[in-house]
Amino acid sequence: MPLSRTMALSLVLGQLAVPMSSAQQVTDLVGDPQRGKAVFRSVASCLRCHGWPADGRTGVDMRAPTGSNLRESTLDKAQIAEVVACGRPGTAMPYHDRAAYRDGRCNGLVMSDFDSANEPQRGKSLSAQDIANVAVYLQDHVIGRGKPTFEECVDFFEEPAAKACSYMK
Ligand code: HEC
Repeated sequence: MPLSRTMALSLVLGQLAVPMSSAQQVTDLVGDPQRGKAVFRSVASCLRCHGWPADGRTGVDMRAPTGSNLRESTLDKAQIAEVVACGRPGTAMPYHDRAAYRDGRCNGLVMSDFDSANEPQRGKSLSAQDIANVAVYLQDHVIGRGKPTFEECVDFFEEPAAKACSYMK
């Protein structure tokens, strides 16, 4: 049965506690925020949609769908892992667990449960470890931060940061 966008969303948001979901697997892993930054920046290119400071505005790729402001997110590590692994069907947020909609690990749903308009978007495939890494990166460096600063930009781009960040001075 195809699901409407609202139904798919409420399923994804409402049923986080599915046995052996990718998110649970990830919760047990210790994340490395430095590697998580590399995942955010280059491996999975999260910054295309969310922007380098993940505020959903700064430096987003104009050809990509706009991501939400993760600095204001209230999600915990398991919930971040769930969204990254399973995506948000019915939105542009892609899934990154390559088996996400094959065996029901994402809220018991498989691809054929969705109509074409709400089919989950596929992102770059990430291991459970890299999902943990990017979740911890968001927790340590993004969530709860206010406006992005020049110092943060330099920290993010490293070299040649001065050029990439001069517009923020
Ligand atoms: C193609 C664009 C796109 C890409 C690439 C993308 N996102 Fe998203 N992301 C979105 C959109 C759009 C939303 C908002 C979904 C919604 O409306 O619920 C979102 C939502 C989220 C949320 C939920 C925030 C909350 O508080 O509800 C998290 C966490 C997240 N993204 C993390 C990531 C990470 C980490 C990556 C890279 C591994 C990534 N995203 C890649 C578009 C994208």
